[in-house]
Amino acid sequence: MNIKLVSEVSIDGKITFGRGESSKELFTLLTEEDMKFIHAIRGEVDGILVGMNTIRNDNPSLTCRYDMGENPIRLVPTVSLDLPENSTILQDGVATILLTTENNRTKAKAYDSYPNVRFVFAGEEQVDFEKAFAILEADYGIHSIMLEGGGSLNWTLIQKQMVNEMVVIRLPIIIGGKNNVSLVDGDGFKQCAASRKFELKALEFRKGVVIENYVVA
Ligand SMILES: NC(=O)c1ccc[n+]([C@@H]2O[C@H](COP(=O)([O-])OP(=O)(O)OC[C@H]3O[C@@H](n4cnc5c(N)ncnc54)[C@H](OP(=O)(O)O)[C@@H]3O)[C@@H](O)[C@H]2O)c1
Repeated sequence: MNIKLVSEVSIDGKITFGRGESSKELFTLLTEEDMKFIHAIRGEVDGILVGMNTIRNDNPSLTCRYDMGENPIRLVPTVSLDLPENSTILQDGVATILLTTENNRTKAKAYDSYPNVRFVFAGEEQVDFEKAFAILEADYGIHSIMLEGGGSLNWTLIQKQMVNEMVVIRLPIIIGGKNNVSLVDGDGFKQCAASRKFELKALEFRKGVVIENYVVA
């Protein structure tokens, strides 16, 4: 699976305005050209992956707008299977696959009334991404994924060395907040030797943002 992490990030590495808050306001700092750039990536990939808190806080549609290609299949890992009923990804009819644990097969039946929702069951306590991605490749032809956060899910996939490329859309603001969500959260790496290394492949200066493109070193 080819995974490209794409995120709008403040100078100090924050991706929202406080834990539990939506990041949608960050989009007001982007121009239409920046939005087209993001949506063009959505149009190039087979799937778009976000964590459940991102669904809860942002209620995104994750579709490809501005005529930039096909909608990617939305992929959301969740152990709780606790999606707000008014979530756009449930209601708008566009394909969504929930990645969840094996023991959630019965609970998943509660989503039978949503024809656009499918399930991939993988893992016991947590979603087993190695297994889930193998199923997505074999059964759904998903070979490329745009990963759009949040910090917890980004950590899980960075730690597992599953992220091949990163597009950091750097916003010229400081948000701060010691409990706020960062590009990558989790436990963090305790030594430089253990940290994940990336190489800067390209740097693009735009009107209000800088786009940093990294590939795994
Ligand atoms: N600036 C940006 O580009 C950007 C992009 C995306 C998100 N955000 C912001 O990021 C915030 C959310 O980040 P977050 O770190 O709190 O949460 P998150 O990464 O969006 O979601 C974490 C949740 O995903 C589910 N999950 C299931 N299996 C998992 C696994 N193996 N690893 C990780 N997660 C798994 C769990 O849901 P269950 O609880 O259902 O089990 C877990 O609680 C939002 O407030 C949003 O605004 C910003």
